[in-house]
Amino acid sequence: MADSADSETLARMLRSRRSIRDFAEREVPAELVAAILDDARWAPSWSNTQPYKIAVAAGGLKDQLKAQLLARFDAASEVQGRGALGKLAAFLTRSKALPDGDFDTRFEYPEELTPRRRATGFGLYSVLGIAREDSAARQRQMRRNFEFFGAPVVLFVFVRQELGAYSVLDAGIFLQSLMLSAQARGLGTCAEGALGTWAGPVREAFDVPPDYKLLCGLALGWSSDHVVNAYNPGRAEVAEMLVPAKRG
Ligand SMILES: Cc1cc2nc3c(=O)[nH]c(=O)nc-3n(C[C@H](O)[C@H](O)[C@H](O)COP(=O)(O)O)c2cc1C
Repeated sequence: MADSADSETLARMLRSRRSIRDFAEREVPAELVAAILDDARWAPSWSNTQPYKIAVAAGGLKDQLKAQLLARFDAASEVQGRGALGKLAAFLTRSKALPDGDFDTRFEYPEELTPRRRATGFGLYSVLGIAREDSAARQRQMRRNFEFFGAPVVLFVFVRQELGAYSVLDAGIFLQSLMLSAQARGLGTCAEGALGTWAGPVREAFDVPPDYKLLCGLALGWSSDHVVNAYNPGRAEVAEMLVPAKRG
């Protein structure tokens, strides 16, 4: 049974968890990663199907994945700078720059949500001292995603696609459970949709059942004292998410 101290602790944790985008150079003991996964497995899911698989990389395997994903990112950046014909050539030659993720991570944001996305991005760049027009610096920050922001551990999350939105929903609940468990143990996390862009290197490194599709990654480690980790993009008020009743 939970008591009022629990609710205060949980409320504080929910409000104070932040995405960590700079990690200290300090290993995370394997037992600690195991303990966090052991907490997160209690997340609820549709019919208790738990339709996800997790791949954990640390040490040499993490470094190998970092090198391969950075190579993809750099190749993609190079193609991006080439213009339409260069992009076509890359497509025709099946360049490794082409995203091979199981889900499309590049989508058009609905107009209604664009202001929040932009505010969050610009807020982050402003904390990092990156000017809006400095696309090279923004690109460098994007690249940090594929270095897992210096985290000693990276997790990859896979879901069964047949369950459609519901396996993704279950994986989301699992991820938040995992992030809160990590936070309670003094660790920092950053969920990384960016890590869904290239599935090839991840599938080469892990024996993932083919029916499980790469959804995203998560960087895990000890927060550094870099100012970026204090960045809080805030949230919309509850009233903004509530839809009014039509009558009554
Ligand atoms: C599914 C998901 C994917 C995300 N992908 C990225 C990412 O690729 N790179 C990144 O820097 N942050 C990523 N984030 C972090 C969000 O930007 C962050 O949660 C949001 O701005 C709110 O900030 P906060 O987590 O610090 O409260 C992701 C978060 C979620 C939940």
